[in-house]
Amino acid sequence: MCGIVGYIGNKQASPILLDALEKLEYRGYDSAGIAVIDNNKINIKKCIGKIENLRSLVANDEKNGSHIYGNVGIGHTRWATHGKPSDVNSHPHISQSGMVAVVHNGIVENYMELRTFLESKGYKFVSDTDTEIIVQLIDFYYTGDPVAAVRQAISRLSGSYALGIMFADYPWQLIAFRKGSPLIIGLSDGENYIASDIPAILEHTKKIIRLGEQELAVITSESVSVFNSFGERIHKEVQEITWNIDAAQKGGYEHFMIKEIMEQPTVIKNTVSPRISASAIDLGLKNITDKDFRRITNVVIVACGSAYHVGVVAKMLIEKYARIPARAEIASEFRYSDPMVNENTLTIVISQSGETIDTQYAMREAKSKGSKTLSIVNVVGSSIASESDDVIYTWAGTEIAVATTKAYSAQLAVSYLLAFHIAKCRGCIGEKEEQELISELERIPDDIEKLLEGKNQIQFMASKYFNAQSIFFIGRNIDHALALEGSLKLKEVSYIHSEAYAAGELKHGTISLIEDGTLVVALATYMPLFEKTVSNIKEVKARGAQVIAITSDNTSIPEDVADNVVYIPSGYKYIEPMLSIIPLQLFAYYVAANRGCDIDKPRNLAKSVTVE
Ligand code: F6R
Repeated sequence: MCGIVGYIGNKQASPILLDALEKLEYRGYDSAGIAVIDNNKINIKKCIGKIENLRSLVANDEKNGSHIYGNVGIGHTRWATHGKPSDVNSHPHISQSGMVAVVHNGIVENYMELRTFLESKGYKFVSDTDTEIIVQLIDFYYTGDPVAAVRQAISRLSGSYALGIMFADYPWQLIAFRKGSPLIIGLSDGENYIASDIPAILEHTKKIIRLGEQELAVITSESVSVFNSFGERIHKEVQEITWNIDAAQKGGYEHFMIKEIMEQPTVIKNTVSPRISASAIDLGLKNITDKDFRRITNVVIVACGSAYHVGVVAKMLIEKYARIPARAEIASEFRYSDPMVNENTLTIVISQSGETIDTQYAMREAKSKGSKTLSIVNVVGSSIASESDDVIYTWAGTEIAVATTKAYSAQLAVSYLLAFHIAKCRGCIGEKEEQELISELERIPDDIEKLLEGKNQIQFMASKYFNAQSIFFIGRNIDHALALEGSLKLKEVSYIHSEAYAAGELKHGTISLIEDGTLVVALATYMPLFEKTVSNIKEVKARGAQVIAITSDNTSIPEDVADNVVYIPSGYKYIEPMLSIIPLQLFAYYVAANRGCDIDKPRNLAKSVTVE
């Protein structure tokens, strides 16, 4: 999704802005631009395509005498919402008077009404974007006091947005504002930064301030002043980033996606170990108590995409072990469904970024109905983590590839811990089962390692099937939930059409799509339904399907049932299916690699989806 950067200090802003934008490339974008103030004049360079196009534009213009010099500037990577990707729709946008420039992440919902208003005041628009409304509106209210003009303008906007703003006649300051979409401020000696995300500024500073909801910051090279929505100056904690730039680099791998897949043993260890104390699960919760877990009568899980797929697993685990009615809901639907949630509901909110706007709004909806909210989040201090009643962090580290892998697995591990903890609080399981689960979770990293060592087998299968037109993923129970994720992963990165089906459901319609050579990836790791799944595999095989089966290494699937079998380590009572995601992730990765896809930044996708 769109990325914002800003710099103010005594160095040339444009190279810093271009480098910072490159660090945000992983978020997904279609165009980019920068604006710098030089002698009380705002100069802008922007264009469709990659940052390298923007670099060439800046370099070529420079050769022709059109410099972009100055010590204060803003930059942007755009992920189109209003108006197609084009040079003119790219940010920054500048006001008609040339006095104000804005970069924007998010959506202005009432932009049509504001555009009509501004047109009636004589403003002419050059782009199709909602952002141009913001910049003209600020310009309209500007009478010499930048902060007052910004405040008046934002009081008229509805939607969610983060803004970086500069005024030609105030070259010593930047203004940042956040409502919904995230924004951080990086602090350094004699220079300061704004950014949508930490990697953009990590090579310059590890000290950051996270802007909260409706907070506005005035940033100079020497100071940062933050104000709340009432205009009162507030104190903000400075957060020290503990990870370094290496975590945001590929470390010898060809893509971030494969690097992150390979990191999963460590990620699971880091996520599980701190939650085990004296052979018992200790989630370290502060505001949600064991009493709450005993009191609740139902659980709802809200999330999007892969995080929703974790929610589908979590629902099954909570019902199975804690015996509480649970449901997983797609966050973007939940908010508008007048959901049946009350003070006896526990709402579990799952999000890697902690910034997904659909998930955030779903959480607020649940809260407004009296539900306690417990989030499972990867990014420390993010909006969802801060706004929920309590948070369990997945210690997956920064995830750069747009398609999630390690954060997904860490969310799964937390789901097991949480389901077991709730079950224990409610007397549904005893210490013995808890300890069994803990030892299983502690075994998982080594078994993931083994699966990763066998990645050549998956690479070989990918080279066999990468030209498939359409791929089906099937499984029963938890295997179905994993099939959903395997299918999403494949289509995200390889652009092959794919669908996930409950294995027993296929015969009720979709089996009509199976013909000679259709590839079916069948998960058969859920042992109570193993035989039934094998029957479903036979049904597709009989219709000519090519089958890749994934099952446990203490079973076998005959050659006439599956063309290829991936065996995963057995001996688990509860969590074997957590391992089967590894071959699915590897398969998606290698298929995409064979097809020459842009694996880390698949077309049209964004890492952190901050629009509804
Ligand atoms: C898929 C993927 C997305 C996210 C979804 C939610 O690989 O990454 O489906 O899972 O956009 O994002 P978060 O977890 O940040 O809320």
